[in-house]
Amino acid sequence: MATPLRLQKYLAKCGIASRRKSEEFIAQGRVKVDGQIITSMGTLITPGKQTVHFDNKEVQASEELIYILLNKPKGYVTTLSDPQGRPIVTSLLQGIGQRVFPVGRLDLDTEGALILTNDGNLAQSIQHPSNEVNKTYEAEVRGHPGKNTVRQLEKGILLENKQTAPATIRIQKRKKKTSVMIITIHEGRKRQVKKMFQAVSHPVISLKRLAYGRLTLDGLASGKYKILTQNELKRIFSNKLLYKQKNS
Ligand code: URA
Repeated sequence: MATPLRLQKYLAKCGIASRRKSEEFIAQGRVKVDGQIITSMGTLITPGKQTVHFDNKEVQASEELIYILLNKPKGYVTTLSDPQGRPIVTSLLQGIGQRVFPVGRLDLDTEGALILTNDGNLAQSIQHPSNEVNKTYEAEVRGHPGKNTVRQLEKGILLENKQTAPATIRIQKRKKKTSVMIITIHEGRKRQVKKMFQAVSHPVISLKRLAYGRLTLDGLASGKYKILTQNELKRIFSNKLLYKQKNS
């Protein structure tokens, strides 16, 4: 007989979302077991014995694991549905049979690298703070942040009563009224890059995620995706920086 496993683990295994995100779905009352809404995390599921519904659709153990890198265009939401009817990223994945979910989020007006998968364990590894997976962004910001400001951001600043973890920043280009900055962070707080630059009075004008670890878009056009190989997946966990600093 199949071994029982916790509901959130089962949802992750079935490709609904990472374990952490699945816990949120459970707490939100979006998950039913044998027709009953379950909001406690301790519930055990024996695959094949109970029926589980997420958002009123039956959850099926997913087939093949798949890993996708999408170059998300601006104007797409990274949720799986949108009450406001805005375009959703998964609509760009024509030809992918499996149900996949985005690993983390990008704002509506942020573009760039977005991993989608049905592997809840990989999603969990990428997002778990202890793994410190680097995310590198190109941010065009208003004005010209000085060296002290850059150092301050790199060391960590207080955001919503919590210090940000060390970051790496390179000033890529100074334009007349703006600067193009490359920033690498390993935290994943909501709108973190925008909030960090906002906090030092250099608001972000446009934002693009260039890479997870050393997995870059590598010529992938906006709106296009590719299926990742095992070697490409390993690059996500590389802690080598994409760019060296050149601020001093
Ligand atoms: N940081 C932000 O501010 N926005 C994103 O979309 C991603 C990281």
